Amino acid sequence: MADVVILPQSELVTLAAEYIGSLVHEKPELVLGVATGSTPLQLYQQLARSGADFSRASAFALDEYVGLPESHPESYTRVIDTQVTRQLGFQPERVHVPSGNHATLATAGPEFEAKIRAAGGIDVQILGIGTNGHVGFNEPGSSFASRTRVQVLAEQTRIDNSRFFDSLESVPRHCVTQGIGTILEARHLLLLAFGKQKAAAVRAALEGPVSSLVPASAIQLHPRVSVLLDEDAASELAMAEYYRYAWQNKFGGQVLG
Ligand code: GLP
Repeated sequence: MADVVILPQSELVTLAAEYIGSLVHEKPELVLGVATGSTPLQLYQQLARSGADFSRASAFALDEYVGLPESHPESYTRVIDTQVTRQLGFQPERVHVPSGNHATLATAGPEFEAKIRAAGGIDVQILGIGTNGHVGFNEPGSSFASRTRVQVLAEQTRIDNSRFFDSLESVPRHCVTQGIGTILEARHLLLLAFGKQKAAAVRAALEGPVSSLVPASAIQLHPRVSVLLDEDAASELAMAEYYRYAWQNKFGGQVLG
């Protein structure tokens, strides 16, 4: 069972930042899986403030839109460059985002997977969750064996992400995303969710049947998962009281891992 931690958002961010900070201290060549979206932004800010040294670490992003120029403010290449590479002090050549360039789409997935393998695999993968239960951009129906590939974005995802664009029309219709099979190979999954709008997806992911209709439910198949939820995101969980009890009784509720 996943460790499920239910705390105010600021405490979750501190817990996750301390955990990742300790990992990179122990292993300077840490391979960190990074997510985009609004959920992990405070975590990156807190890690930056902590002074953790990522100069020898590598990072792999989950996904990228197809067809946005890399200079577009919403391209994940640009977001990762700003929020992760520069803010945390990674060497740019050790930060990898799948290519969403039309010209190289056929090879983008296998090339990205080869880079993850060459780095020795991902030590800890930060994940958000879509309101429709997606992880990365693996939309409902994605195979649990899927690898990094082109996906068609669900309409719900385009609507959710249109807040970052001028209009719904300007949200791309395609993406390249790590597959569920790729994500499940990371050695530790760290899923964060904040807010009421995530509560139904969180419940389906943690307590619903394991189903490709809820891609995030694949985390139930992983042996090492930590799920960090604020009260609102946890508000539909049937087992919330047990999760609190179990967390308090695991190392006094102080340590992720
Ligand atoms: C986005 C990203 C996901 C992210 C999710 C939630 O579309 N592709 O990696 O986890 O949707 O986003 P947010 O954190 O902004 O709610």
